[in-house]
Amino acid sequence: MAYKNIIVEKKDGIGYIKINRPQALNALNKETLIELKGAILDLEQDKKINVVILTGVGKAFIAGADIKQMADMTPLEAKKFSELGHGVLSKIENSRFPVIAAINGYALGGGCETILACDICIAAKSAKIGQPEINLGIHPGFGGTQRLPRLIGKMKAKELLLTGKNIDADEALRIGLVNMVVDDVKLMETAENIARQIAGKSSVPTTFIKELVNKGTNIDLDNANSLEISYFSSSFSTHDQKEGMKAFVEKRKPTFKGK
Ligand code: CAA
Repeated sequence: MAYKNIIVEKKDGIGYIKINRPQALNALNKETLIELKGAILDLEQDKKINVVILTGVGKAFIAGADIKQMADMTPLEAKKFSELGHGVLSKIENSRFPVIAAINGYALGGGCETILACDICIAAKSAKIGQPEINLGIHPGFGGTQRLPRLIGKMKAKELLLTGKNIDADEALRIGLVNMVVDDVKLMETAENIARQIAGKSSVPTTFIKELVNKGTNIDLDNANSLEISYFSSSFSTHDQKEGMKAFVEKRKPTFKGK
């Protein structure tokens, strides 16, 4: 797929997706959303890619859904736009590889909703995160009312959703919305360090872990544990389980094949 609004790169088993509409602070319009989903699908085809870093070009990660494009939407168009956003974020959430959000600036509205669909979130010290939709007379439409309370709890989520205030990176860390905060200049280096650690693992458990945590936290514990048992059993039909355990016994580094 050819991209206009995003940049897609690959290096040493890591895929990079950079939202590239700095003139609009990387606001997600329909075209960008379609490209973002296309990029995930394209990267999924490349078996050498085991982890992806998602970031923004310029001073924003993503400053939300594109307000200028939404302004004149009819209810039906808004429904389709919301469904499109949900589809893209659910593709990120359910992709076979972990997606690391490197939050380089504003992550507002649809930008905050995007990080909620990612697996690990690293915020630059100067990042600003929030769900300001209420200031536009609407509420989030890409999953913010649902994923945010599941991550940070109902009370804190309602506070952010109802006040529309933006919080800084340290506050986001305190409430469990991001994994860590780093100096702005260290953002990509930190994301790449974590990505490299993951890229070196077998892609079988990285995919299974992501699926188990995502699926398991949305169902009751008994069923979630049964799911773990069944995935655990499947792992024992893989090359990488045999290789990983054999290498341990032989005191050498394993060579994983992702199967
Ligand atoms: N949509 C469209 N354009 C946007 C945008 C957005 N979400 N955010 C910023 N831009 C545009 C601005 O309109 C401006 O364009 P022009 O130069 O053509 O005027 C350009 O990006 C630069 O923005 P600012 O001049 O406003 O930059 P700033 O540094 O003064 O302010 C900001 C930065 C505080 C992030 C401010 O731009 C802002 O408040 N943006 C909107 C944030 C927001 O409300 N996001 C939620 C969107 S709704 C949503 O996401 C719904 C959903 O869940 C589906």
